[in-house]
Amino acid sequence: MNIVILAAGTGKRMRSALPKVLHRLAGRPLLSHVIDTARSLAPARIVVVVGHGAEAVREAVAAPDVAFALQAEQLGTGHAVQQALPLLDPALPTLVLYGDVPLTKPSTLKRLADAAVEGRYGILTVTLDDPTGYGRIVRDAGGYVTRIVEQKDATPDQLRIAEINTGIVVTPTAQLAMWLGALRNDNAQGEYYLTDVVEHAIEAGFDVVTTQPDDEWETLGVNSKAQLAELERIHQRNLADVLLGAGVTLMDPARLDVRGELTCGRDVSIDVNCVFEGSVTLADGVTVGANCVLRDATIGAGTRIEPFTHIEGANVGANAVLGPYARLRPGAVLGEEAHVGNFVEVKNATLGHGAKANHLTYIGDADIGARVNVGAGTITCNYDGANKHRTVIEDDVFVGSDTQFVAPVRVGRGVTIAAGTTVWKDVPEGTLVLNEKTQVTRGGYVRPVKKKS
Ligand code: UD1
Ligand code: CA
Repeated sequence: MNIVILAAGTGKRMRSALPKVLHRLAGRPLLSHVIDTARSLAPARIVVVVGHGAEAVREAVAAPDVAFALQAEQLGTGHAVQQALPLLDPALPTLVLYGDVPLTKPSTLKRLADAAVEGRYGILTVTLDDPTGYGRIVRDAGGYVTRIVEQKDATPDQLRIAEINTGIVVTPTAQLAMWLGALRNDNAQGEYYLTDVVEHAIEAGFDVVTTQPDDEWETLGVNSKAQLAELERIHQRNLADVLLGAGVTLMDPARLDVRGELTCGRDVSIDVNCVFEGSVTLADGVTVGANCVLRDATIGAGTRIEPFTHIEGANVGANAVLGPYARLRPGAVLGEEAHVGNFVEVKNATLGHGAKANHLTYIGDADIGARVNVGAGTITCNYDGANKHRTVIEDDVFVGSDTQFVAPVRVGRGVTIAAGTTVWKDVPEGTLVLNEKTQVTRGGYVRPVKKKS
C-alpha cells in the first residue's frame, strides 16, 4: 500500500517556533514515531506532506524511503492528500496517517488495512465519552456509514454521536484524484475536507468499513504541550510494561524514562528516576541505582551502578562497581571488576581488569592497566592548551593520592607512586617514584588574629 502522513499543520497551540511534528516524544520527533510505524507495515511508498516549517521537517526525517510533498498553503486535509497524489502508486490502496498522532499501533493499522482490501474504504473510528471537537461518524438505519460530519458543521442531533473519526483512513487510490478534485470548501472552516471523500466513495459504489483500535490512546493527537506531556507518560508507561513483562525489576514503572532503545538481560533491576537515551544494553544481573542517566552504553553482567551516576558512550565490563556520582564520558572502556567511585570522571580511557579509582579523580585520554589502584585526587593532565596527550599506566601500579600525570607519560608495571607526586617523565617498571620535597616543621609560630574594629 501507499502511506501518506499529513504533517503540514502549524500547531499554533504549541506556542513554539519548532514545527509541531518535530516536538519530541521519548527523545524523538513525533513524526519519526509515525514514520517508524509506517515502515513496520512495509508500504510501497511513504509520502510526508509538509508545509509549515517544511525545510526543517524534511531535514529532520530525511531518509531514502521517505518522499515529501509540499502543501504550500494549508487548505484542509483533503487538499493535503491531493498534494501527495502524484507520488502514489494508483494500483495500491492508500493509508492516511497524521504526523501528530504518534502512538498508533501497527497491529491496529494492519487490521484497518486488512478490512479495507478489495477497494473498500476503511475508517478507523473510536467511541468516546466526550466526542467534542472530532468529526462524527453518521450511519443510516441499517448501520452503514453515510458520511462524516465535522464538529463545526454538525446538527445538534449529530453532535450527540459518540463514534468519531480518528482521521486515519484507507482509501482506494485510483479514484482518489477524482474524489479529491470534486471536494468543495463550502463548510464552516472553508477547508477541503478529506472526510468528504467518504460520500464520493459511497456514491461510486464502494463499501465503507470501520475498525477500532485496541486502545483509545492510540488515536490521541498532540495539539498542546499538555497533550504532549500526557502522551509521553502513556508511551513511557507502555515501555515500562514491556520491560516488566520481560522480567526487569522497576522500583516504580511511573518513574522511568526510555528515550531510545533499552535492552535488558535477566534479573536487571532499575531504581527510580533513571533516564536511558540512545542505545543502552544492560546485561544479566545489572542493577541501576536511583537518578542515573545512561546514554549509548553497554554494561556487563553483574555490574552495580550506584545512584546519580552519569554514563555516556561507555562500555563497562562485568561485575564492575560505578558511583555513586561517577561520570563516564565517551570512549570510557572499563574492564571486569573495575571500580569507579564518587566524583570520578573517565573520558576516552581504558581501565583494566580490577582497576580502581574510587574518589575524586579525572582520568582522560589514558590507558590504565589491570589491578591499578588510583588514589584520591589523581589527575591526568591531558591537555597542554593546544593538544591532548595520552597517559599510559601499566598493570599493578599503585598511584598515591593527589598525583598528577603530565601527559604524554608512561608508567611501567608495578611502579609505586608516592602521594602528591607530579609525574612528568616516564617511569621504568618496578620502581618507586616521588618528587623530593621536605616537610618543614617550625615551633613558635603565632597565627594572625582578626583585628577588633
Ligand atoms: C480532522 C478530521 C476529523 C477528525 C480529526 C481527528 C478532517 C476535515 N477532519 O479534524 O474528522 O475527527 O482530524 O483528529 O479531516 N493538515 C495538513 N494540511 C492541512 C490541514 C491539516 O497537513 O491543510 C494536517 C494537520 O497538520 C494535522 C492533520 O492534518 O496533523 C489534521 O488536521 P486538523 O486541522 O487538526 O484536523 P481536525 O480539525 O482535527
Ligand atoms: Ca487535530
